[in-house]
Amino acid sequence: MEHFLFCHDPRKRGGGKIERGRPMGYGIDREEALALINEHIRNPNMVKHCIAAEAVMMALADRLGEDRDKWGLAGLLHDLDVEMVDNDLSRHTLETVRILQEKGIAPEIVEAIKLHNEKAHGEKRHDTFHHALAAGETVTGLIIATTLVYPDKKLKSVKHKSIKKRMKEKSFAASVSRETIMECEKLGMDLDEFSRICLTAMQGISDELGL
Ligand SMILES: [Fe+2]
Repeated sequence: MEHFLFCHDPRKRGGGKIERGRPMGYGIDREEALALINEHIRNPNMVKHCIAAEAVMMALADRLGEDRDKWGLAGLLHDLDVEMVDNDLSRHTLETVRILQEKGIAPEIVEAIKLHNEKAHGEKRHDTFHHALAAGETVTGLIIATTLVYPDKKLKSVKHKSIKKRMKEKSFAASVSRETIMECEKLGMDLDEFSRICLTAMQGISDELGL
């Protein structure tokens, strides 16, 4: 739930082909999802956060042999209601679930989004997909915060070891839950591999993120 900086469109994710307008079988395609995000989220940095989470989720799906379109949509849409609920964590995701269910979005995507904020539901994450979304969207906050303390503030300059160093420094970007990031272990990955994949994914869309 870390919403650091971050607006826009294209897709040139690691290894994946750009396909537009293709029905994905999840009740929504990428362009529609992005339109929904832009309809409900005014803060451009928040939109960028969603796009970063999408990139990270696609990279994780590639690594784990999961469906990158499905995982990418979950990343893109996960914070849809953050402004509607005024950042209230006791309500965050409730409105998203309602909107996505009304649109007939695939239930597994809705569930992963719902459980990325356990606080609103009293229900625990229990699937690789859930842990990937929670850990993946959270680590984007740590990566952005680390980037912003580099002299040039460029994602491409960020060394992987800096992410790991900042992870241990609890006072740095203190609102970023290290515990949630460590859910990467539920994906069968250690922090080293996980943070490397996520940093590379974000570096691949640095222009979109404006960093
Ligand atoms: Fe988020």
